Amino acid sequence: MPIADFTDRALADLWSLKGRGAVVTGGARGIGEAVARRLAEAGASVLVTDVDGDGAARVASSLPVGERASHRSMRVDITDSTALGVAADSTVEAFGRLDIWVSNAGIYPTTGPAIDAADDFIDRMLTVNVRGTFAAAREAARRMQAGGVIVNLASTTGFHASKGISAYSTSKHAVVGLTKNLALEFAPLGIRVLGVAPTVIDTPGVREQMRPLAEAGLDVEAAMAANLLGRTGVPDDVARVVLFAVSDLAAFLTGSTIPVDAGALAGR
Ligand SMILES: NC(=O)c1ccc[n+]([C@@H]2O[C@H](COP(=O)([O-])OP(=O)(O)OC[C@H]3O[C@@H](n4cnc5c(N)ncnc54)[C@H](O)[C@@H]3O)[C@@H](O)[C@H]2O)c1
Repeated sequence: MPIADFTDRALADLWSLKGRGAVVTGGARGIGEAVARRLAEAGASVLVTDVDGDGAARVASSLPVGERASHRSMRVDITDSTALGVAADSTVEAFGRLDIWVSNAGIYPTTGPAIDAADDFIDRMLTVNVRGTFAAAREAARRMQAGGVIVNLASTTGFHASKGISAYSTSKHAVVGLTKNLALEFAPLGIRVLGVAPTVIDTPGVREQMRPLAEAGLDVEAAMAANLLGRTGVPDDVARVVLFAVSDLAAFLTGSTIPVDAGALAGR
């Protein structure tokens, strides 16, 4: 592996994604939408994908279009490996190259005690959050001819046990492990693989999950801000870290999962 010295490159050039082709899964709303927006702002051409095809199209058409950058959208369910391959091929066709893949799509449906967990529920969680993320990375790596970066959305619950959400927490532990294994296998291909692990972030998905808890009397606003900084995270808090991870600023990082948690893990 040649020694890459970035010392002489200007800071603005190191975070620029000008000319790069990117894919974001689950990009129709929440963290994925914010990621698509920052990647586009940094100059990448972005294929916004989601199982909600209309939502993906809405986001793609609202992204900033810079010099040479253009954006597309596609309906992609990450449990459909063929569709993941088509998305990767389309990126190469439309933008000339695939450099960045952000696997953000994931589910966290209402859950309960592990002792009551049904097989279908466990299967669904692992199929979307783990197999979908694994297959996406495989399809992306097969098309990253000039190397690239893959970022997987994990969670702080991928680092510790969490009562009542065992299947989700297990799936995110798997994403942390997957990230290490793919980093090992893809390094010779010039592909870095990183995880990003948010604490609670105010997104449409989280609001849906919080509704019954709010109706049961939980102070949702206080629960969401339970971190060392004492404020609720917003999607762009995560998107800025994803931007760092995919940029050349992070050229010496691979295999690790970066917490975006306002100190929530440190304070446990
Ligand atoms: N919001 C948080 O508090 C939080 C914390 C830690 C980790 N995360 C992770 O970040 C990611 C995004 O979370 P969010 O809060 O923005 O979620 P969200 O529910 O607000 O948005 C998720 C998007 O993914 C799409 N999606 C769901 N299943 C899909 C599938 N099978 N194929 C393609 N698209 C699919 C949805 O249509 C939606 O547009 C998830 O992986 C989640 O586990 C979120």
